[in-house]
Amino acid sequence: NELNGFNGKLHFSRTNRHLPQAIIIGVRKCGTRALLEMLFLHPQIQKAAGEVHFFDRDENYEKGLEWYRKKMPYSLNGQITIEKSPSYFVTPEVPERIHAMNASVKLLLIVREPVTRAISDYTQLRTRAVTPSTASSSGMSTTMATVTTIEDENLQRPSQQQQSGRTFEELVLHSDGTVNESYRPITISLYHNYMYRWLEVFSRDQILVVNGDQLIEDPVPQLKRIETFLHLEPRIGRHNFYFNHTKGFYCLRNDTADKCLRESKGRRHPRVSPLVVAKLRKFFNEHNQRFYELVGEDLGWPE
Ligand code: A3P
Repeated sequence: NELNGFNGKLHFSRTNRHLPQAIIIGVRKCGTRALLEMLFLHPQIQKAAGEVHFFDRDENYEKGLEWYRKKMPYSLNGQITIEKSPSYFVTPEVPERIHAMNASVKLLLIVREPVTRAISDYTQLRTRAVTPSTASSSGMSTTMATVTTIEDENLQRPSQQQQSGRTFEELVLHSDGTVNESYRPITISLYHNYMYRWLEVFSRDQILVVNGDQLIEDPVPQLKRIETFLHLEPRIGRHNFYFNHTKGFYCLRNDTADKCLRESKGRRHPRVSPLVVAKLRKFFNEHNQRFYELVGEDLGWPE
């Protein structure tokens, strides 16, 4: 809150907690944290700390919208409040529930090429299986004076499938060589299986599909698309980023400090057999086409 002197009395500028007008609904491991932190560079954006999981967890949803609103940050009139919970995308009840809160909400869906996303998901599950202490890692490492602890859902939840010690190749293929569609990192990459539900509830123009691979390569063009989508003045630009060669990713910069995402974001992936990658790409091809048809955009993922 801003504190101003006013007629000899203390006066607080009007800030309040608002329900989010925009939500990052997923997809897990596609850059949901990076996207939220990058959008937060914009002066008209406020972000919820952590992942709220209001719409996907019954125990939270039952607490009601007032509970949800209190999880939101203070914002000024005219600012946009955003939260991200990556499992919203894959949870069947969520589209209807978000619609019941606000039928004109704006949704951001960030996707990556599905095989890369599956390997990233595998890497995360494996890391957690090997070193459970990483469960307390937060999403951001920072040189800023104020450090906000950010817990990402996928670091907190226990592994649903025991995979310790098994290679990616062993987990994604059955012994007869067919793709194991019920292995969670594969299931979640079948985006069309979830997307159709969102389009039954929301109009296509309420959902922006963000290209997570391009957000890594060159964040600014994706962020400019989002500024337009959210009707924000163009404020985020090249000056907000620098490439960190040690990390191998862009880091963020504002007037006061530079900051990179934590080590848990931008992990080294294990080497995966090129034959298995080729097989998976072939498997995903028809599913990707279905996703392109649903969203009316060709993401250009390799076949
Ligand atoms: P990897 O760690 O597998 O590379 P999420 O926040 O949804 O869990 O997504 C994590 C992914 O964000 C990382 O997956 C990484 O590739 C991606 N990412 C995108 N931009 C990034 C950035 N500037 N710094 C670090 N990771 C970034």
